[in-house]
Amino acid sequence: MSDSYEFVVVANRLPVDEVTAEDGSRSWARSPGGLVSALQPIVRRQGGAWAGWTGQPGDAPEPFDTDGMHLHPVGLSADDVDRYYEGQSNGTIWPLFHDAVEQPTHRRPWRQAYEAVNRRFAEAAALLAAPDGTVWVHDYQLMLVPAMLRELRPDLRIGFFLHIPFPPVELFMQLPRRADILRGLLGADLVGFQRPLAAQNFLQLTGRLLGLDPQEEHVVVDGRTVTARAFPISIDVTEVEELAADPAVQAEARRMRTELGGDRRLLLGVDRLDYTKGIEQRLEAYGELLADGTVSNDDVVLVQVATPSRMRVKEYQELRARVEREVGRINGEYGAVGQVPVHYLFQSMNRAELVALYLAADVMVITPLRDGMNLVAKEYVAARHDDQGALVLSEFAGAAAELPTAFLVNPHDVEDLKRAITDALHADGAEQAERMKPMRTQVRDNDIDKWASDFLETLGTISEDNDKGLGGLILDGDDLRHGGNR
Ligand code: ADP
Ligand code: G6P
Repeated sequence: MSDSYEFVVVANRLPVDEVTAEDGSRSWARSPGGLVSALQPIVRRQGGAWAGWTGQPGDAPEPFDTDGMHLHPVGLSADDVDRYYEGQSNGTIWPLFHDAVEQPTHRRPWRQAYEAVNRRFAEAAALLAAPDGTVWVHDYQLMLVPAMLRELRPDLRIGFFLHIPFPPVELFMQLPRRADILRGLLGADLVGFQRPLAAQNFLQLTGRLLGLDPQEEHVVVDGRTVTARAFPISIDVTEVEELAADPAVQAEARRMRTELGGDRRLLLGVDRLDYTKGIEQRLEAYGELLADGTVSNDDVVLVQVATPSRMRVKEYQELRARVEREVGRINGEYGAVGQVPVHYLFQSMNRAELVALYLAADVMVITPLRDGMNLVAKEYVAARHDDQGALVLSEFAGAAAELPTAFLVNPHDVEDLKRAITDALHADGAEQAERMKPMRTQVRDNDIDKWASDFLETLGTISEDNDKGLGGLILDGDDLRHGGNR
């Protein structure tokens, strides 16, 4: 039998991606996205195993140990990538859970592949977890895993966290076989969401679709209490602060500023190239500001970093084409020889380069149409030890609830976007500090370690009660926090 682990994370992706170079040689690189940014420091510090996909179709490589973690690759065939990953996960669930900002597609073979692949992840977790161990399942790609895993291993503590928004009840109701998703999630003892409303929507649906009787943040299923609660995710503040304090990173920030045009004010966007991120609306607003003369190419520059993402999915290819066309148009119309108003970087960067950009930026523009959290916003705040810089932030990012002194904006409203960007550009040093300080306190007091310990301690308490046969009793929040021994 293979080694077993007290703590196992299960996510669609491993923290590293397998990369094939042009000469066919293979290597590993950090995987894209906020899930990996958030979880990697936790698993590294806590030790344990991580089951996930390598990002490449084909047989899974052998499990290996790295950085204090045991990585257990789960293989996806080319068909699985097509149907489970690009199809059901990113063509159906992703758009639906993001307020259907793109039309979700519903296909039966995608759903079948989703179920089959979820079973494979559940089997991997069942194999890896020690008796009575803890398994933490992550995100929308694996919502059936908790129930499948409980069937295989009833001894385990099972937690689930959804990194993306959970949709309003009416939207969720559109999902074919929607009750299966709820039953899948209810296999966990604790289901975590980014926002309280998401937990409420989920609980309400267990009543409406499964005939259960949710009470406050709990629902009893098969004699177990399942708790649904918000645990807003965060970042590794220490990592960002250390990079921001590094003289080499600071020198890089100064170099970037000089190269971008000396005293031009720097606007910055950093996103995966995803239609949820509002990149087109941002460019439209910036283009209009240039057109009406509110800003000029002589005094402002926008750097837009767009991380390549899901590039085989049609909607993402089309988005890329539209974004690049708009960047070209703006630069063509308002640029000059040797100086353009938009620098567009379609590439991944290392952490030091990103933090240097955060330090260099006068205004960080984060305008998703819908976002579970948005860790870039928190990274920008954590990097600004000088209490300077301004954050323009969409009201529809989970982070807005925690960062109310940002320049909050409705990204669907171009006029409002223009207003927020202009206000941010005009904020003097004192206003910047007044807005930045409370945001920095919030992010520092609620970092990723606190998020993980809040979740895992709550999970421990709930599972213990379920083990003691107390699960059928609905416990209130205080009982849970204090051991729930009634
Ligand atoms: P999402 O999870 O939807 O991609 P988040 O903002 O929550 O959005 O997380 C994105 C993460 O990816 C952040 O930790 C950010 O630093 C990182 N990131 C974003 N763009 C890049 C890039 N071009 N290169 C490397 N890392 C990036
Ligand atoms: C978001 C999702 C993650 C996903 C990441 C990158 O953060 O919540 O689950 O891993 O985007 O997307 P990808 O499809 O490349 O894994």
